Amino acid sequence: MALSSQTTALAQIPRVHIFPTAGEAADAVAEHLLATVKRNPKSVLGLATGQTPRHVYAKLVHAFREGKISFCDVETFNLDEYCGLTASHPDSFAAFMQRELFGLADFDPRKTNLINGDVQDVVAEARRYATRLKESGAVDVQLLGLGTNGHIGFNEPGSASDSHVRVVDLADETLSANQPSLIELTSVPERAITIGIADILHAREIVMLATGSAKAGAVRRSLREAPSTDCPASFLGTHQAVHWYLDNAAAAEIG
Ligand code: GLP
Repeated sequence: MALSSQTTALAQIPRVHIFPTAGEAADAVAEHLLATVKRNPKSVLGLATGQTPRHVYAKLVHAFREGKISFCDVETFNLDEYCGLTASHPDSFAAFMQRELFGLADFDPRKTNLINGDVQDVVAEARRYATRLKESGAVDVQLLGLGTNGHIGFNEPGSASDSHVRVVDLADETLSANQPSLIELTSVPERAITIGIADILHAREIVMLATGSAKAGAVRRSLREAPSTDCPASFLGTHQAVHWYLDNAAAAEIG
């Protein structure tokens, strides 16, 4: 990976890469994922939704269209899904993935694992997804975004470091933060299924992308405070191979 010339590594915080703009941070994350898939075309990727990774996915699609990469042997696991939405509902994370990535490149639908939010028995669905995750062995690279309250996936403050796939109630801050991203719904679903913090930490490598000033406080708490359930992303500090990709705005408070 050609990161060294454009990254700022903080001596006291290894693997924190800071870029002038959000676009450059996302470009570097895309390069990281592309290098992973080039090294091992059968990589298992953990994928995230939200506004932050959209540029990353656009870069992956661009590389595919230019004939530089194939994703046909890649297996993916998404982090989370709202309860109550069909995969075709525009506000579901399944639809997001189809629009932003899966439908625009050569991913094999049999290998793109998504949580089904449209089920009567959400506990059984969480169990099914946990089993699939376990069968895959381990995620090679887990891509994450960051909630303004420090959540990862939908592991809200209060989530334990040994949590696994489960049904969760979303925090008020998350309901407000995700409201502007809605396409058809008028309010954010209050429940979701998410993989747990222990599942995230089980990945061989973790890539966190956080950009914009709204994330600066959560970035500081995650990197500067001791691991605590108050800020779920702080548990990433216990992982051996986590990369933080930040723009200047998100890095503003880590000093
Ligand atoms: C969402 C998702 C997270 C995502 C985060 C940030 O609720 N569950 O996986 O990382 O919130 O979203 P955004 O990138 O839109 O700020």
